[in-house]
Amino acid sequence: MAKIGNIDVGDFPLLLAPMEDVSDPPFRALCKEQGADVVFTEFISSEGLIRDAAKSVMKLDIYEKERPVGIQIFGAVLDSMLQSVEIVEASGPDMIDINFGCPVKKVVSKGAGAGILKDIDLMVSLTEAMVKHTKLPITVKTRLGWDYDSIKIVEVAERLQDVGCQAISIHGRTRAQMYKGDADWAPIAEVKNNSRMHIPVFGNGDVNSPERAMEMRDKYGLDGAMIGRASIGYPWFFSEVKHYFKTGEHLAPPTMEERVYAAKRHLQMAIDWKGEKLGVFETRRHYTNYFKGIPDFKEYRMKMVTSDDSASVFEAFDEVLEKFGDFQFV
Ligand SMILES: Cc1cc2nc3c(=O)[nH]c(=O)nc-3n(C[C@H](O)[C@H](O)[C@H](O)COP(=O)(O)O)c2cc1C
Repeated sequence: MAKIGNIDVGDFPLLLAPMEDVSDPPFRALCKEQGADVVFTEFISSEGLIRDAAKSVMKLDIYEKERPVGIQIFGAVLDSMLQSVEIVEASGPDMIDINFGCPVKKVVSKGAGAGILKDIDLMVSLTEAMVKHTKLPITVKTRLGWDYDSIKIVEVAERLQDVGCQAISIHGRTRAQMYKGDADWAPIAEVKNNSRMHIPVFGNGDVNSPERAMEMRDKYGLDGAMIGRASIGYPWFFSEVKHYFKTGEHLAPPTMEERVYAAKRHLQMAIDWKGEKLGVFETRRHYTNYFKGIPDFKEYRMKMVTSDDSASVFEAFDEVLEKFGDFQFV
């Protein structure tokens, strides 16, 4: 059984990765229903939060049904991070996750996200200060290192644990790799095999099939799998992994009816949460995966991803069900 602080998250939990403009309340709800054991918000800027920037504040919305849920924040300035811990606490998450892994230039150039991998002492002291500033568990999500020559993740993870970090999720790529190449899980296993480690070590990067999730558990011995891209437009990924663990067999893929139903709920929840315009816009990226593999689908996909009003998108869903209702997904 893995535990994050006092929170029991089960045996080899599946965690929904924080993903910008993806891991919002509607999508988290769908993933939770399909068996995600822990979900995270997308990253939220500490500077945005303390400026009370509306977009950052809205990202703090969490709902009872999705617990345990972690709110992820990023930043590199101690004072801003501590202030944002207080703001985040008021939303009542189960844990606060620090993003020490984002590779994008605008974050890294300010020393935040993966930028902090160039200053491990600061990474550790920020974590320690945040741990001391809240009763909530502080968790960390990071990468293997800045680049391949500077990987010190075993030492880094141990230092984070020693200052009170309650769980660590490690993406098996360096910052220099961005998203290129394959995720390397061997260094994550080294973190786990360090006899001094006692907090959960979750693996992340390229868990894109039930078999890969099982490999992460059985070959690499990690405590859980954090899943990102494989779940985009495919919240069923969580139930497929769980079914495979239980039976050794693959769950049949969702039918067209189930896909249309999920896509409709997704869109409706998104509209309810952030309004018509943003709801329509930000749900678009999921549709390709919801309806992957259907021949001659372009016309419908275009309607879904270019319509500005939800009525047209809902109409496209109905048309798809009518035209392709019997399509057999593999
Ligand atoms: C669209 C997108 C947005 C992301 N946003 C975040 C984020 O806000 N915070 C974070 O820690 N990682 C973020 N990531 C990285 C993922 O959490 C994860 O580490 C990465 O995608 C590798 O896992 P995967 O192979 O399962 O997708 C993002 C990834 C994607 C694809």
